[in-house]
Amino acid sequence: MASIKQIGKKACVIGGSGYMASLLIEQLLQKGYAVNTTVRDSGNPQKISHLVALQSLGELKIFGADLTVEGDFDVPISGCELVFQFATPVNFASEDPENDMIKPGIKGVLNVLKSCVRAKEVKRVILTSSTAAVTINQLNGTDLVMDESNWTDVDYLNTAKPHSWGYPASKALAEKAAWKFAEENNIDLITVIPTLTAGPSLTPEIPTSVRIATSLITGHDFFLKALRGMQLLSGSISITHVEDICRAHIFLAEKESASGRYICCAHNTSVPELAHFLSKRYPQYTIRTEFDDVPSKAKLVISAEKLIKEGFSFKYGIEEIYDQTVAYLRTKGALKN
Ligand SMILES: NC(=O)c1ccc[n+]([C@@H]2O[C@H](COP(=O)([O-])OP(=O)(O)OC[C@H]3O[C@@H](n4cnc5c(N)ncnc54)[C@H](OP(=O)(O)O)[C@@H]3O)[C@@H](O)[C@H]2O)c1
Repeated sequence: MASIKQIGKKACVIGGSGYMASLLIEQLLQKGYAVNTTVRDSGNPQKISHLVALQSLGELKIFGADLTVEGDFDVPISGCELVFQFATPVNFASEDPENDMIKPGIKGVLNVLKSCVRAKEVKRVILTSSTAAVTINQLNGTDLVMDESNWTDVDYLNTAKPHSWGYPASKALAEKAAWKFAEENNIDLITVIPTLTAGPSLTPEIPTSVRIATSLITGHDFFLKALRGMQLLSGSISITHVEDICRAHIFLAEKESASGRYICCAHNTSVPELAHFLSKRYPQYTIRTEFDDVPSKAKLVISAEKLIKEGFSFKYGIEEIYDQTVAYLRTKGALKN
């Protein structure tokens, strides 16, 4: 990506306290953008300490805003050319996904877009969706290729209610609602569709997705169950470095010709294949490699061809993703050397 300084340009990042969003803010500031960001609890120093630290890099203003409150985003979005919407209600343990994730997920995206319509300066909105909005279906096979034309089968999720069904339903329905609203209101919308994400984080806590991605190494039961569940529900373990995810967001925001949905996926694998790869690469850890509850081969691959054809190149493959994530976990004291 060309590192042209974007002096005088202003972007708003919704949900700035999060894993991807805080790294995106760092990249935007390094590129010379002025940034407004929103967090739910701007009065909680623990939740925003990593954002306060970024203020030394450039002009970063932190606002309090909740997805479910219409109008909360008017002030932070005002004066911004680009809006990045990352915030999403996540509660995997929810017993009421409809009210905990689906309704607030849709309402949140629409509230942000309504503020974009009211603020006249917004040129493009970049919404972070998920491959969970793309890959969940009842197709059989091992060599399916999923691209931007695929949508998760929400009717199946609603009727079968497989474990953790609320999150993919929320992401798919929120993205669909965003496309409908954008079309009706003439908004230049791009959706970025990331896979499971790993790599070092600026956040005070280790992100959940990093814990899931490294569960084969840490042996953490709860997160390993989530990783296996991910392959069973979505058909693969597909993974990307957080830095590439953020670079792709900025690339697509700045690329005039970009339009529609863009999958951002660096590597496709399965739990057993990943386990074999990790046990070879990190022999110092005890890594389970036998699984009788997940297929040895992934059902599908998720294709990032559209993003690559647009001119984006991934910096990190599977080796670097894990080398950097393992090093990060060691510095956090979450993994022995
Ligand atoms: N990480 C992954 O592996 C992955 C993969 C695919 C897609 N994604 C998508 O990428 C985006 C960012 O993911 P992430 O892992 O970086 O997320 P994260 O670290 O869990 O951050 C989620 C953000 O959403 C905010 N949020 C939740 N409910 C909110 C509400 N009612 N009002 C305002 N903000 C609210 C949280 O704010 P608080 O800090 O105030 O709670 C937090 O900043 C999400 O849309 C996610 O679905 C992530």
